[in-house]
Amino acid sequence: MTREISFRINGREEKITIDDADTLLEVLRDRFKLWSVREGCGVGACGTCTVLLDQKPVSSCFLLAARAAGHVILTLEGLGDGEQLHYIQEAFVSQRALQCAYCTPGFVLSVKALLDEIADPSDAEIREYLSGNLCRCAGYADILRAVRVAQDKKQSLTTNT
Ligand code: FES
Ligand code: FES
Repeated sequence: MTREISFRINGREEKITIDDADTLLEVLRDRFKLWSVREGCGVGACGTCTVLLDQKPVSSCFLLAARAAGHVILTLEGLGDGEQLHYIQEAFVSQRALQCAYCTPGFVLSVKALLDEIADPSDAEIREYLSGNLCRCAGYADILRAVRVAQDKKQSLTTNT
């Protein structure tokens, strides 16, 4: 069966007809060409396909698009301003917290949700929050450092506004 749904993706209201069996990952990639949303395991176990749904990380491969109706979705494309990397992306680059970068969009979005939710997370809280995101090649120590750099940047931006 098909149905028409509406949601907000990266700040834009969208209306689209989907099949009930479509996953959010399929709709974001195939219909909206949001290529940062990547498929890894396809069964909700690796976090590669993470997007934010109402500011919380979800595995888009494991969520039916119909369940996203009426919600707010953020993908990596909606993070920066198009020209300038977001400070979380900059932190990943400066700390060399990526190699092949296949997992990086999911990590960056999970870090955004983490820092929005917990202003000053402990190392244990960071590890727990990111435990659903797997990386096959970068060191997790580098990723942890990137979170701290991003956290400092976020705090300095908050202080200066
Ligand atoms: S591809 Fe979605 S969790 Fe692995
Ligand atoms: S940087 Fe290659 S999988 Fe994470």
